[in-house]
Order: sequence, then C-alpha cells, then structure tokens
Amino acid sequence: MELFLDTASVTEIKSMWDLGILDGVTTNPSLVAKEGRTFDSVLREICALGIPSVSAEVTATDTDGMLREGRRLRAMHPSIYVKVPMIPAGLRATKILAKEGTRVNMTLVFSAPQALLAAKVGATYVSPFIGRLDDQGQDGMELIREIVTIYRNYRVPTKILVASVRHPMHVVDAAKIGADIATMPLAVMEKLVQHPLTDLGLARFLKDWEKVPKG
Ligand code: E4P
Repeated sequence: MELFLDTASVTEIKSMWDLGILDGVTTNPSLVAKEGRTFDSVLREICALGIPSVSAEVTATDTDGMLREGRRLRAMHPSIYVKVPMIPAGLRATKILAKEGTRVNMTLVFSAPQALLAAKVGATYVSPFIGRLDDQGQDGMELIREIVTIYRNYRVPTKILVASVRHPMHVVDAAKIGADIATMPLAVMEKLVQHPLTDLGLARFLKDWEKVPKG
C-alpha cells in the first residue's frame, strides 16, 4: 500500500521523505491555509522535493472554473494530481480533465455510489473520508470495504485513496482490506514507525554492548 502525507507543510513532508517511506502528498484548502503562504509557492516547493504524487485541490464550484484551475495546476508540475470535489460540476470537470490526460483525485467522497461515479468519469484516485464518517457515528472502514468490492467486481483502475485517517489502525485495516493508498497527518505516520518495545529493546542491547570487552 502506498503511504501519503496529508499536509501542506514542507517541513513535515521533508521529515518523512528523508526516511524513504513516503509515496505522495495530499493537500486541501484548509491545510494550505494553515501555512500562511500562497498556494503556488507551497505547491512548487513540495513538487521540487521530487514527491511523485502531489494532490492540489480546485476551489471553483462550477465546471468551467474547475477546468480553468485544473488545467493551470496540471501545467505547474508533472507530479500534480488535480483534486476535484464530488459534486455534479466536479463529475463534469473530471470527465473532461481525465480525457485531456490530467490525473484527477475525486475528493469529499462519503458513499459507495459516489465512488462508483468517480470511477465512471475516469478519476485516477477516489478519496473516501473515513475519519469524518467515524466522527458522525458511521463506520468509515465499511465504506472502504464496499468500494474495494465494487472496484474489484468491475476491474476498475481508479485507485482507492483512504483519506481523513485518524490513527494507525485505520492504516492497518485499510491495508488488510486492500485499499491502494492511505493519506494521513504527520502524527499518524510517526506512530507507524514507533513501538515502545523497539525502544526498550534497543536500550537493552546498547546497555549490554557496554559489557562487551572492546579493543
Ligand atoms: C485528504 O485528501 C483529505 O483532504 C483529508 O484527509 C481530510 O482529512 P480531515 O477529515 O482530517 O480534514
């Protein structure tokens, strides 16, 4: 499974990119707003790191506006995937952008029918938001199971990008189900690395190593 970082912070991205475990980055307007910098400067800096997949979201809500923004974003860098919201105007825009060869990440997906439609219009990624479903008392992971089953039934090439991930078990469960990608905040990705028994074990090894005669 590919692991993406859900952030617009270049510092955060660099820290995971250096570990060699990062396959891509997703941003959204709220994440970009936290950085206090222009969208373009943030995007250019992220792409310059060599990240192969960088999702950048349009903010227009009409098809023409989405097409204008999508084409501009795509022209900025070959690694950019254009994020388009799952609304009727977004479906129209995705169909056109996909035909032009732009890779679209259909976002704000909360149901299996929406995921079916994202595939139909040629989205490269579909982004179901599982944490936000959990937050309102629904089982977000059940949606991932449904989408994996539907896409397998019809050999759909659209990749399932599990979004709104809140903790490591979301990542593990998504991997067990067979989702293609999970995008997560830095805090969750850091937790994937850590285990207290690893730290305890290392401390014990190093302590015992002091007893080994040197020279
Ligand atoms: C990623 O593409 C989404 O924008 C993001 O995962 C949403 O996460 P949130 O529900 O924590 O805001």
